[in-house]
Amino acid sequence: MTDPVVPFYDQLADAYHLLFADWDVSIERQAVALDRLIRARTAGSPLTVLDCACGIGTQAIGLARRGYTVHATDISPAAVARLEREAASRGVTLAAGVADFRTLAGAVTGPFDVVLACDNALPHLITDDDLARTAQQLHSVVREGGLLLVSIRDYDHLTLDKPRATMPWTFDDSDGRRVVFQVWDWAENGQTYDLTLFILRASGDGWLTQSFRTTYRALLRADLNRFLADAGFSDIRWHMPQDTGYYQPVVTARA
Ligand SMILES: C[S@@+](CC[C@H](N)C(=O)[O-])C[C@H]1O[C@@H](n2cnc3c(N)ncnc32)[C@H](O)[C@@H]1O
Repeated sequence: MTDPVVPFYDQLADAYHLLFADWDVSIERQAVALDRLIRARTAGSPLTVLDCACGIGTQAIGLARRGYTVHATDISPAAVARLEREAASRGVTLAAGVADFRTLAGAVTGPFDVVLACDNALPHLITDDDLARTAQQLHSVVREGGLLLVSIRDYDHLTLDKPRATMPWTFDDSDGRRVVFQVWDWAENGQTYDLTLFILRASGDGWLTQSFRTTYRALLRADLNRFLADAGFSDIRWHMPQDTGYYQPVVTARA
């Protein structure tokens, strides 16, 4: 059976850049912050990087531009196809493929110096079993002594208030005005929520609306620590946005 996350990201792939004020600016900004984090925790270069939740390439493209040898994979075929087009149109060389990070080791030839899963990819896994299995798969593709780097939303904070929606972002550019926001419907136990992402584009006197729906687990830092430690990772450290310049909490761990 197809994982429901696949149609969500397949349908979103063409519009994904619209979630950013300027996607190219975000590619560069994220690469600067991630490069700094990686270099502070690894020695030598060039480094091989597996971005196993690459989407349309927000991290993979910027890191490849900075001299990393990047292999980018994702469960969404449409996202991977767009990543390949976006990399080619920018003259960026990287390898790409479709892979589920729950079965990653069979899909890539590792190990890699650094393995990334950024922007809240792991919280798409709802069950403990899937998280435990994925942590083991990640561990098996990071070289011994190499680095895992994962970013997730700050659920330790968000689960205190369980917000029903995000504030709308309003962007004005050459394509006109667009408004982007999310509505979150929390499960009664507060452990998961259904997210509906809205993208509204001004059109004449009205608005064209697209919406996309998926489910997330509100993955707490202590829980992710436990899955990573159980899989064999050590030196597990959280890096918060005020220290890294990256917009989400980032966990690094050593294989
Ligand atoms: C919010 S997007 C972030 C994409 C990219 N890292 C970025 O920042 O633009 C989360 C990504 O995780 C991917 N993903 C979710 N579940 C996955 C799985 N089981 N295996 C591989 N990728 C998965 C999705 O397809 C999606 O591209």
